[in-house]
Amino acid sequence: MKRMTQLIYSGMMFLSVAACGTDSGETGTSTPKDLSQQPFTGKKVLVAYYSYSGNTQAVARQIAQATGGELFAIETVQTYPERYNDLTAQAKREINAGFMPELKAQVPQMETYDVVFIGSPNWWGTYAPAVRTFLSQYDFSGKQLVPFFTHGGGGMQRCESDMKVQLPQAQFLPAAAFPGRASGASADKLQNWLGKLLP
Ligand SMILES: Cc1cc2nc3c(=O)[nH]c(=O)nc-3n(C[C@H](O)[C@H](O)[C@H](O)COP(=O)(O)O)c2cc1C
Repeated sequence: MKRMTQLIYSGMMFLSVAACGTDSGETGTSTPKDLSQQPFTGKKVLVAYYSYSGNTQAVARQIAQATGGELFAIETVQTYPERYNDLTAQAKREINAGFMPELKAQVPQMETYDVVFIGSPNWWGTYAPAVRTFLSQYDFSGKQLVPFFTHGGGGMQRCESDMKVQLPQAQFLPAAAFPGRASGASADKLQNWLGKLLP
Protein backbone atom coordinates (compact mmCIF):
# COMPACT_ATOMS: atom_id res chain seq x y z
CA MET A 1 0.00 0.00 0.00
CA LYS A 2 2.81 2.40 0.89
CA ARG A 3 4.56 1.49 -2.32
CA MET A 4 1.39 2.23 -4.26
CA THR A 5 1.05 5.56 -2.49
CA GLN A 6 4.59 6.46 -3.45
CA LEU A 7 4.13 5.39 -7.05
CA ILE A 8 0.93 7.36 -7.44
CA TYR A 9 2.55 10.47 -5.99
CA SER A 10 5.73 10.03 -7.99
CA GLY A 11 3.74 9.69 -11.19
CA MET A 12 1.75 12.83 -10.54
CA MET A 13 4.81 14.84 -9.64
CA PHE A 14 6.83 13.53 -12.52
CA LEU A 15 4.22 14.60 -15.03
CA SER A 16 3.99 18.09 -13.60
CA VAL A 17 7.75 18.56 -13.50
CA ALA A 18 8.34 17.09 -16.94
CA ALA A 19 5.96 19.70 -18.27
CA CYS A 20 8.22 22.39 -16.84
CA GLY A 21 11.30 20.81 -18.40
CA THR A 22 13.39 20.87 -15.22
CA ASP A 23 15.19 18.36 -13.06
CA SER A 24 15.64 20.80 -10.20
CA GLY A 25 17.44 19.46 -7.20
CA GLU A 26 19.26 16.67 -9.00
CA THR A 27 22.98 16.32 -8.66
CA GLY A 28 25.07 17.21 -11.69
CA THR A 29 26.73 14.84 -14.12
CA SER A 30 30.34 16.05 -14.29
CA THR A 31 33.14 13.47 -14.16
CA PRO A 32 32.94 11.55 -10.89
CA LYS A 33 36.03 11.38 -8.70
CA ASP A 34 37.65 8.08 -7.84
CA LEU A 35 35.97 6.91 -4.68
CA SER A 36 38.01 3.75 -4.31
CA GLN A 37 39.34 5.49 -1.22
CA GLN A 38 36.48 6.35 1.07
CA PRO A 39 35.71 10.07 1.07
CA PHE A 40 35.57 10.47 4.83
CA THR A 41 38.57 8.43 5.87
CA GLY A 42 39.57 9.18 9.43
CA LYS A 43 36.15 10.67 10.26
CA LYS A 44 33.33 8.96 12.07
CA VAL A 45 30.25 9.11 9.84
CA LEU A 46 26.58 8.71 10.75
CA VAL A 47 23.90 8.25 8.10
CA ALA A 48 20.59 9.11 9.76
CA TYR A 49 17.40 8.99 7.72
CA TYR A 50 13.63 9.01 7.88
CA SER A 51 11.85 6.93 5.26
CA TYR A 52 8.13 6.28 4.95
CA SER A 53 8.13 3.91 1.99
CA GLY A 54 11.75 2.82 1.59
CA ASN A 55 13.26 5.12 -1.05
CA THR A 56 15.28 7.29 1.31
CA GLN A 57 16.37 4.21 3.22
CA ALA A 58 17.77 2.75 -0.02
CA VAL A 59 19.88 5.87 -0.63
CA ALA A 60 20.98 5.95 3.01
CA ARG A 61 22.27 2.40 2.68
CA GLN A 62 24.24 3.33 -0.43
CA ILE A 63 25.79 6.33 1.35
CA ALA A 64 26.69 4.22 4.38
CA GLN A 65 28.37 1.70 2.14
CA ALA A 66 30.31 4.35 0.22
CA THR A 67 31.45 6.27 3.30
CA GLY A 68 31.85 3.52 5.87
CA GLY A 69 29.16 5.29 7.91
CA GLU A 70 26.79 3.84 10.46
CA LEU A 71 23.07 3.81 9.71
CA PHE A 72 20.39 5.19 12.01
CA ALA A 73 16.69 4.95 11.13
CA ILE A 74 14.59 7.84 12.45
CA GLU A 75 11.23 6.37 13.46
CA THR A 76 8.15 8.01 14.93
CA VAL A 77 6.32 6.62 17.93
CA GLN A 78 2.97 7.18 16.17
CA THR A 79 2.87 5.59 12.75
CA TYR A 80 1.50 7.56 9.82
CA PRO A 81 -1.72 6.52 8.05
CA GLU A 82 -1.44 4.13 5.13
CA ARG A 83 -4.32 5.66 3.17
CA TYR A 84 -2.91 8.15 0.70
CA ASN A 85 -5.36 10.97 1.38
CA ASP A 86 -5.01 10.63 5.14
CA LEU A 87 -1.22 10.54 4.93
CA THR A 88 -0.87 13.60 2.73
CA ALA A 89 -3.44 15.55 4.77
CA GLN A 90 -1.73 14.75 8.06
CA ALA A 91 1.69 15.54 6.63
CA LYS A 92 0.44 18.89 5.37
CA ARG A 93 -1.13 19.76 8.72
CA GLU A 94 2.04 18.84 10.61
CA ILE A 95 4.35 20.75 8.30
CA ASN A 96 2.18 23.87 8.38
CA ALA A 97 2.12 23.74 12.18
CA GLY A 98 5.84 23.03 12.54
CA PHE A 99 4.80 19.92 14.47
CA MET A 100 7.59 17.67 15.72
CA PRO A 101 6.44 14.08 16.26
CA GLU A 102 7.94 12.06 19.08
CA LEU A 103 10.70 9.69 17.96
CA LYS A 104 11.30 6.15 19.10
CA ALA A 105 15.00 6.37 19.85
CA GLN A 106 18.04 8.62 20.05
CA VAL A 107 21.46 8.13 18.49
CA PRO A 108 23.79 6.66 21.09
CA GLN A 109 26.89 8.82 21.58
CA MET A 110 26.07 11.40 18.94
CA GLU A 111 29.01 13.45 20.24
CA THR A 112 31.45 10.93 18.74
CA TYR A 113 30.45 11.57 15.09
CA ASP A 114 32.28 14.06 12.86
CA VAL A 115 29.97 13.91 9.83
CA VAL A 116 26.21 13.40 9.92
CA PHE A 117 24.35 12.64 6.71
CA ILE A 118 20.68 13.40 7.24
CA GLY A 119 18.09 11.99 4.83
CA SER A 120 14.42 12.68 4.28
CA PRO A 121 11.73 12.29 1.65
CA ASN A 122 10.49 15.54 0.18
CA TRP A 123 7.07 16.07 1.75
CA TRP A 124 5.14 19.03 0.43
CA GLY A 125 8.33 20.70 -0.72
CA THR A 126 10.23 20.34 2.53
CA TYR A 127 11.67 17.66 4.81
CA ALA A 128 9.52 15.33 6.89
CA PRO A 129 8.42 16.39 10.41
CA ALA A 130 10.30 13.45 11.96
CA VAL A 131 13.54 14.93 10.65
CA ARG A 132 12.63 18.28 12.17
CA THR A 133 12.34 16.52 15.54
CA PHE A 134 15.64 14.74 14.98
CA LEU A 135 17.48 17.95 14.18
CA SER A 136 16.07 19.59 17.31
CA GLN A 137 17.46 16.90 19.60
CA TYR A 138 21.23 17.25 19.23
CA ASP A 139 24.04 19.73 19.38
CA PHE A 140 25.64 19.67 15.93
CA SER A 141 28.38 22.18 16.63
CA GLY A 142 31.75 20.97 15.35
CA LYS A 143 30.09 18.50 12.97
CA GLN A 144 29.53 18.58 9.24
CA LEU A 145 25.89 18.04 8.26
CA VAL A 146 25.18 16.58 4.83
CA PRO A 147 21.49 16.57 3.83
CA PHE A 148 20.05 14.29 1.18
CA PHE A 149 16.52 13.86 -0.07
CA THR A 150 14.39 11.70 -2.30
CA HIS A 151 11.45 13.09 -4.19
CA GLY A 152 8.60 12.23 -6.52
CA GLY A 153 9.59 14.64 -9.28
CA GLY A 154 9.75 17.99 -7.51
CA GLY A 155 13.48 17.81 -6.75
CA MET A 156 15.01 19.60 -3.78
CA GLN A 157 12.40 22.39 -3.53
CA ARG A 158 12.79 23.94 -0.02
CA CYS A 159 14.25 20.85 1.66
CA GLU A 160 17.81 22.12 2.00
CA SER A 161 17.00 25.78 2.59
CA ASP A 162 14.41 24.99 5.29
CA MET A 163 16.94 22.82 7.10
CA LYS A 164 19.38 25.71 7.15
CA VAL A 165 16.68 27.91 8.62
CA GLN A 166 16.09 25.40 11.41
CA LEU A 167 19.83 25.10 12.15
CA PRO A 168 21.35 28.48 11.24
CA GLN A 169 24.58 27.79 13.16
CA ALA A 170 25.30 24.35 11.71
CA GLN A 171 28.01 23.68 9.15
CA PHE A 172 26.31 22.21 6.07
CA LEU A 173 27.96 20.52 3.11
CA PRO A 174 26.05 20.70 -0.21
CA ALA A 175 22.86 18.64 -0.25
CA ALA A 176 21.67 16.26 -2.97
CA ALA A 177 18.19 15.21 -4.08
CA PHE A 178 17.54 11.93 -5.85
CA PRO A 179 14.43 10.67 -7.62
CA GLY A 180 12.67 8.30 -5.23
CA ARG A 181 13.15 4.68 -6.27
CA ALA A 182 13.13 1.42 -4.35
CA SER A 183 16.54 0.64 -5.88
CA GLY A 184 18.07 3.87 -4.55
CA ALA A 185 20.12 6.52 -6.35
CA SER A 186 21.93 6.02 -9.63
CA ALA A 187 25.55 5.12 -8.89
CA ASP A 188 26.87 7.92 -11.11
CA LYS A 189 24.85 10.66 -9.43
CA LEU A 190 25.68 9.40 -5.97
CA GLN A 191 29.40 9.14 -6.65
CA ASN A 192 29.50 12.51 -8.35
CA TRP A 193 27.92 14.16 -5.33
CA LEU A 194 30.03 12.33 -2.75
CA GLY A 195 33.14 13.06 -4.79
CA LYS A 196 32.42 16.78 -4.66
CA LEU A 197 32.31 16.62 -0.87
CA LEU A 198 35.94 15.56 -0.78
CA PRO A 199 38.33 18.26 0.40
C1 LIG B 1 2.95 13.20 2.24
C2 LIG B 1 3.81 13.19 1.02
C3 LIG B 1 4.13 14.39 0.41
C4 LIG B 1 4.97 14.41 -0.72
N1 LIG B 1 5.29 15.62 -1.27
C5 LIG B 1 6.15 15.65 -2.32
C6 LIG B 1 6.52 16.89 -2.90
O1 LIG B 1 6.11 17.97 -2.47
N2 LIG B 1 7.39 16.87 -3.95
C7 LIG B 1 7.89 15.70 -4.44
O2 LIG B 1 8.66 15.72 -5.38
N3 LIG B 1 7.54 14.51 -3.92
C8 LIG B 1 6.69 14.44 -2.88
N4 LIG B 1 6.35 13.24 -2.32
C9 LIG B 1 6.96 12.01 -2.87
C10 LIG B 1 8.14 11.54 -2.00
O3 LIG B 1 9.07 12.59 -1.78
C11 LIG B 1 8.90 10.40 -2.67
O4 LIG B 1 8.04 9.36 -3.01
C12 LIG B 1 10.02 9.90 -1.75
O5 LIG B 1 10.99 9.19 -2.52
C13 LIG B 1 9.49 8.97 -0.67
O6 LIG B 1 10.58 8.59 0.14
P1 LIG B 1 10.46 7.38 1.17
O7 LIG B 1 10.15 6.13 0.36
O8 LIG B 1 11.80 7.29 1.81
O9 LIG B 1 9.37 7.68 2.12
C14 LIG B 1 5.50 13.19 -1.23
C15 LIG B 1 5.14 11.98 -0.62
C16 LIG B 1 4.30 11.98 0.47
C17 LIG B 1 3.94 10.66 1.11
